Amino acid sequence: MQTQIINIDPQKIDIKKIKECAEILKSGGLVAFPTETVYGLGAVATDASAAKKIYAAKGRPSDNPLIIHIAEPMDAERYAYTCPLYYKLANAFMPGPLTVILPKKDTVPSDVTGGLNTVALRCPAHPIAKAIIEEADVAIAAPSANLSGSPSPTEGQHVIDDMNGRIEAIINGGSAEIGLESTIVKIDGDALTLLRPGAITRDALLCVCEHVNIASAVTEALKENERPLSPGMKYRHYAPNAPLVLLDGESKDIQKFIIEQSQKEKILMLAYTEEISHLSGVDTIDIGALNDLQTQAKKLFSALRAANDMELDRIYAHLPPQSGLGLALYNRMIRAAAHTVMKV
Ligand code: TXA
Ligand code: MG
Repeated sequence: MQTQIINIDPQKIDIKKIKECAEILKSGGLVAFPTETVYGLGAVATDASAAKKIYAAKGRPSDNPLIIHIAEPMDAERYAYTCPLYYKLANAFMPGPLTVILPKKDTVPSDVTGGLNTVALRCPAHPIAKAIIEEADVAIAAPSANLSGSPSPTEGQHVIDDMNGRIEAIINGGSAEIGLESTIVKIDGDALTLLRPGAITRDALLCVCEHVNIASAVTEALKENERPLSPGMKYRHYAPNAPLVLLDGESKDIQKFIIEQSQKEKILMLAYTEEISHLSGVDTIDIGALNDLQTQAKKLFSALRAANDMELDRIYAHLPPQSGLGLALYNRMIRAAAHTVMKV
């Protein structure tokens, strides 16, 4: 398939190009587009056969449900049974990087929800995403626009690398601002369960809802035969070609270890900006300053992709903290590392 690559400036949206993309979607095609979290691979959410094409293009197991994207929080009414807590969350965090799981209505085919009777809803803030959904006038189902198992795309080029020749069109709209996928919560009565941490942190959710439980799979490996709350939790994610090891210890000790290790094997260190000058002779990627979790979040998936272009025996990185935005980084990195943590 010939994939159209369409450049759109998010600051100066070309509505003619948006309309063309909306037409492709409405005729059952797939269009990848930027959101503020990561790029999404879109299809009309009410079209079961279009949704099936998403699974094929990504090589994704069809029991792993898709998030559906709406233009306004109120549009949830067309696809799900809402509740007052949904609107409290919407008022606080939508449009933005939050996905809410609600009981689904029949307008959403079960192919989109992997057979579940719930649906994941998100109202993105990115101007291109918003314009496409508005123009299509229907919810757009979109998982992250990567091949299944590889890091989510945060640049147009990442999507081109993974999806060229597999889908009708790719909108290149620059870098994703946040760089990690949305926070996913499930509403259980008057409590929330955090299924995937993201830029909307647990502390932020606690401002709206008193009870926010964290699903164990956010930080722990699933036990054998354990059924995850979110099907996506059971799949291998973000796995780089070389094994990733997370280092837990003092910065000085870690630097000493890395320098020794670089003499024994071909390694890459995802290092803090402050460390780069202490690691001369070692292959490093600057992941952002020690206390700048936002930059680290934005750079992580690019760094994992860059690592795949290098011949490496091992990749090392710091074990992130589990508080604030750190929890989202921890969740992605612990999975990319297949839970391999080393005390230094
Ligand atoms: O930031 C994001 O959320 C990006 C952008 C494109 O919106 N999308 C994204 O989608 O990350 P995806 O498909 O890569 O991840 C969605 C996750 C999966 O792990 C899936 O299992 C879970 O959401 N999910 C979807 N529907 C669900 C449901 N009804 N119940 C529980 N988990 C669900
Ligand atoms: Mg994904």
